[in-house]
Amino acid sequence: MPVPEQRPRYEEIERELGSLLDGCDDATAALSTAAALLFAHLPAASWVGFYRVVAPGLLRVGPYQGGIGCLEIPFDRGVCGAAASRGETVVVPDVSAFAGHIACDPDTRSEIVVPVRDAGGRLVAVLDLDSRDLDAFGDADRIGLEGIAAALTPHLG
Ligand code: SME
Repeated sequence: MPVPEQRPRYEEIERELGSLLDGCDDATAALSTAAALLFAHLPAASWVGFYRVVAPGLLRVGPYQGGIGCLEIPFDRGVCGAAASRGETVVVPDVSAFAGHIACDPDTRSEIVVPVRDAGGRLVAVLDLDSRDLDAFGDADRIGLEGIAAALTPHLG
């Protein structure tokens, strides 16, 4: 867990995202910008990206930063599938203790996955962050990243 002075300032990240996406109605551009911005501001994250809902019960990789991510994840697999199927944020302090974790990077130690919804409230993606540190993401990250997901909603069609 990052020490207080190293904790990400999500309010600043959210403001910067809003400014960058002003007038943007292109989901690919919005998700790409958010992935790049978060990757730049969150040193604890080794991978930041989105998995999009492409069919009932199926996620497919979207814009991301970091190593190669797996192409598709069914809702009944992985941390991403759990967040998508539950419709809520999943925080995993130790991925080795999460049954069914999908290790795109064998060095991933902890993870957080946040649902992303469109203006109608439909699940359209999940925001996935991996870290090579144990217990890298806490409640402040959950709240901050849920705020980022909400800030994306107006730009997702
Ligand atoms: N770890 C994720 C899979 C995506 S890779 O981490 C980018 C999961 O268990 O769903």
